[in-house]
Amino acid sequence: MNTKIKKRAVFFCAALIIGVFWSITANAQKSKTNVMKNSSPQKYAQDFHSYSNPQAVKIRHVDLDWNVLFDKRVLQGTATLNVERAANAKNEPLILDTRDLQIEKAETSGDGKSYKTTEFQLSAVDKILGASLTIKLPANAKFVRVFYSTIPTASGLQWLMPEQTAGKKSPFMFSQAQAIHARSFIPLQDSPQVRVTYSARVRTPKNLLAVMSAEGNSQNNNARNGDYRFAMTKPIPPYLIAIAVGDLQFRSLGKRTGVYTEPSMIEKSAFELADTEKMVEETEKIYGAYRWGRYDLLVLPPSFPFGGMENPMLTFATPTILAGDKSLVSLVAHELAHSWSGNLVTNATWRDFWLNEGFTTYLERRIIEAVYGLPRREMEATLGRRSLEEELAAMDERDEILHVDLKGRDPDEGFTGVPYEKGALFLRYLEEKVGREKFDRFVRGYFDSHAFQSITTETFVDYLQKNLLSGNSQISRADVDEWVEKAGLPQNAPQPKSDAFQKVETQANDYLSGKIQASAVQSKSWTTQEWLHFLKTMPEKVGAEKMSELDNAFNLTKVGNSEIAFQWLLMSIKNDYAAAYPRLEEFLTSIGRRKFVKPLFDELAKTPKGTKRANDIYAKARSGYHPITQASVDQILKKESK
Ligand code: BES
Ligand code: ZN
Repeated sequence: MNTKIKKRAVFFCAALIIGVFWSITANAQKSKTNVMKNSSPQKYAQDFHSYSNPQAVKIRHVDLDWNVLFDKRVLQGTATLNVERAANAKNEPLILDTRDLQIEKAETSGDGKSYKTTEFQLSAVDKILGASLTIKLPANAKFVRVFYSTIPTASGLQWLMPEQTAGKKSPFMFSQAQAIHARSFIPLQDSPQVRVTYSARVRTPKNLLAVMSAEGNSQNNNARNGDYRFAMTKPIPPYLIAIAVGDLQFRSLGKRTGVYTEPSMIEKSAFELADTEKMVEETEKIYGAYRWGRYDLLVLPPSFPFGGMENPMLTFATPTILAGDKSLVSLVAHELAHSWSGNLVTNATWRDFWLNEGFTTYLERRIIEAVYGLPRREMEATLGRRSLEEELAAMDERDEILHVDLKGRDPDEGFTGVPYEKGALFLRYLEEKVGREKFDRFVRGYFDSHAFQSITTETFVDYLQKNLLSGNSQISRADVDEWVEKAGLPQNAPQPKSDAFQKVETQANDYLSGKIQASAVQSKSWTTQEWLHFLKTMPEKVGAEKMSELDNAFNLTKVGNSEIAFQWLLMSIKNDYAAAYPRLEEFLTSIGRRKFVKPLFDELAKTPKGTKRANDIYAKARSGYHPITQASVDQILKKESK
């Protein structure tokens, strides 16, 4: 053999050996993970907000068959659940969460074809959790079918009269399941650590379109006939199951993005959301592929109680983001970011909520930076830190902790700026310490390695320790513990910096000191964020005279931007600026977004005169509010919640 051939043969043999070895180890690795998957059942954290028993019997798939009955304001139909029993749980029943459900009958089946009636029992009602539904399972049961209907005041649904919509002609219905409202329209294991796929058949009046957080929206749109089908083929936590029904139209925004809304809102929505496809692309560059297929948005009527809700494949959004200048689209960045943090890697329980929202707020700012630039990011981060500081000043210490203790409390009480802004500052702190490149790699690896899993704070902290901090002398375990387990903001918390805001402050101070008139404030080129900062720089009791000067100069009582209007109205109440009261009433009777409504009623309720005004306005506004917003305002005005 000449040397050339010899060399080749050696190379060939070596390659063969390496190849064989590679495939053996890879296969061994594969079968090891398979074995691990099968032999070590998922560990469940203690979830104080669910009655369910997934460690014994868990549901894997939910098949819904619903009639949407607008005249009765109920969903009526069946939920068929695929159940899986742990090997050591032979006699355990299936335990589900419910709230205000009318259960007609329960059946079980071994093959999904022939069903037999089985016994079930509803527990006494707990004010926060609802009632457990215990269903007896024969040994061979693989399917459980529950026949039920919702009640008209179901906490997770809102039924709107035609007058409450933009078109004023057709009724509208939408769901909002986070945190624990899925149980008010589906009997299921309503814990975020139980992941399910789902499918649905939905019958509606023929002229209306149903959309869900699933595949099927576009096909249904093309064949509008009041009989719609959906499928979510990726395992998701139950709080992400969502439906809306109304006179909806679709407009494409990009190759996998689009918007649904009422016909009269479609133009404005498409304009405002035009950057959505770009946002998806930029997020993918940092955090890896978008794994859900399409990303569409649904712009709802104004009673939607939140800014946005990250229902998979179909973000639900308030129409109050439609400012006309794309200035409030950080909300889109936020809900989109949940496609990684929250929907892909999910908080296991509501005490781990900061894993969803802190990561998402951090990602949101990264998306804003990528699409709109660093100055915009820093303005938004500054506003975020400011509002967190204000909130912390008036907060119970126990609520200042990221890993908050919610035992015996409504998970809604964890919905504060802490999981969002303190969580985001923690991640920004880590980024600043280790450098962006390393931190991005870490976060991407975190998403990949926990994809489609629900995890606790402990799991995250362990992963952080092993994959980012071990060998790093700059961040100690004590630092991490301070961020995660202690109240308040650590001394070393990042401080966002905005040059634009410094200029705004100079203007504000010149005006306040009398150096310049309101009309001389250089505000021509100000963005929404600069306006917000300007107003927030005013002292709390700026006085009715200055309020009037500002209003004359800038027409603030008439401003259309919802965030600026909200800030102005809050100041108006604090300073008893009477000229803004008609606008206040108009705002509170036309918008049901809790983030705006609650603080305004809170502020009114601080004085007897304000309380009277609040009650008068609420008498007109309450019936238009979503049950979630109603509950918040009822509490402020001490009404018995219905
Ligand atoms: N997932 C939340 C909304 C939520 C949280 C609903 C907890 C119910 C319980 C959503 O992603 C969110 O954070 N929305 C914010 C907007 C965002 C830009 C901060 C909102 O609605 O204000
Ligand atoms: Zn969020």
